[in-house]
Amino acid sequence: MTTTFRAWLVEKHSDASGTASQTASVSELTDTDLMPGDVTLDVSWSSINYKDGLALLGRPGVVRTWPLVAGIDVVGTVTASESDRFSVGDEVLLNGAGLGETHHGGLAERARVDSASLVRVPGSLGARRAAAIGTAGFTAMLSVLAVERHGVTPADGPVLVTGAAGGVGSIAVALLSRLGFDVVASTGRVDSKGDFLRRLGAATVIDRAELSEPGKPLQSQTYAAIVDPVGSHTLVNAIARLNYGGIAAASGMAQGIDLPGSVVPFILRGITLAGINSVDAPLPLREEAWSRLATDLDPELLDGLTTEIPLDQAQAAAVAILDGQLSGRTVVDVRA
Ligand SMILES: NC(=O)c1ccc[n+]([C@@H]2O[C@H](COP(=O)([O-])OP(=O)(O)OC[C@H]3O[C@@H](n4cnc5c(N)ncnc54)[C@H](OP(=O)(O)O)[C@@H]3O)[C@@H](O)[C@H]2O)c1
Repeated sequence: MTTTFRAWLVEKHSDASGTASQTASVSELTDTDLMPGDVTLDVSWSSINYKDGLALLGRPGVVRTWPLVAGIDVVGTVTASESDRFSVGDEVLLNGAGLGETHHGGLAERARVDSASLVRVPGSLGARRAAAIGTAGFTAMLSVLAVERHGVTPADGPVLVTGAAGGVGSIAVALLSRLGFDVVASTGRVDSKGDFLRRLGAATVIDRAELSEPGKPLQSQTYAAIVDPVGSHTLVNAIARLNYGGIAAASGMAQGIDLPGSVVPFILRGITLAGINSVDAPLPLREEAWSRLATDLDPELLDGLTTEIPLDQAQAAAVAILDGQLSGRTVVDVRA
């Protein structure tokens, strides 16, 4: 007997004039619909990232082959493996690596993936917390690693986190504060999310309006490092406030994809701009980041910033993340 499973499937349509559009709906698939891969999973959890929001609402730019199961994160238990690294029963996770973009993703009860980027769920973390961290938290950790590799320590001064109430931002605040940094959190929701950010460990909460408009290329030196998932004027103003020799770890574009600045801070203050790419991160870096997440993120703080939803509510969460209404992380119980 063929067993079916539920999945958020993104499909592309063309109207009579040839104009293309995409829709996403919960569909019933079977294992014969799965794409090639050497590890097959019973999925337990996925999560909602900004890219999932775009895919689930049919926005262009994320899904690049149709029909495709959405979901850039997957956590599950191995049910079949042709890989030497994994056996039936192992709990594993995968972030990015084409999931939900060119390969069937994690918003489904079943998945088949390539083991090249697959990571074992750290035992101390467990499957639900691994999904709660997801791509956003993995990206936050990659950003923190970039700051550390630049040699920045808590003694060098405060670290600015932009988009602080969002997924990447909230986990970056929690990580940096646990590592002893003096964290300045920038948010557009000072009134409603200020206490939340202070509970995560932010020493200071500032209004993102302070950074979001065009500003001078050199401003008062304030920060030793920046973790920025926002881009545009926010990143340019933040760079203008970096101390001599500081680093900005840039991962996102919540304000915009533009970088409307100049070379002045780079050549007069020796600033470094480090790009963060979670999708194509090589396996050793993935393993390092996940091992650090297992030790450096306070599990209770993580639970406090996590909201849980069943599979059929993923599209409602997509609307909320694109409207900037979600905070922290949203995990999807794909079996509920
Ligand atoms: N490079 C990578 O590998 C990678 C990985 C993951 C995510 N990303 C990117 O990082 C970004 C954030 O992802 P996420 O999952 O953290 O999304 P998210 O949960 O929606 O958080 C984004 C946050 O950015 C802030 N924001 C939104 N619109 C803004 C605007 N117009 N101006 C200034 N700030 C704004 C909001 O924070 P406040 O409410 O606190 O202001 C929002 O919560 C996205 O662009 C995503 O595509 C990149």
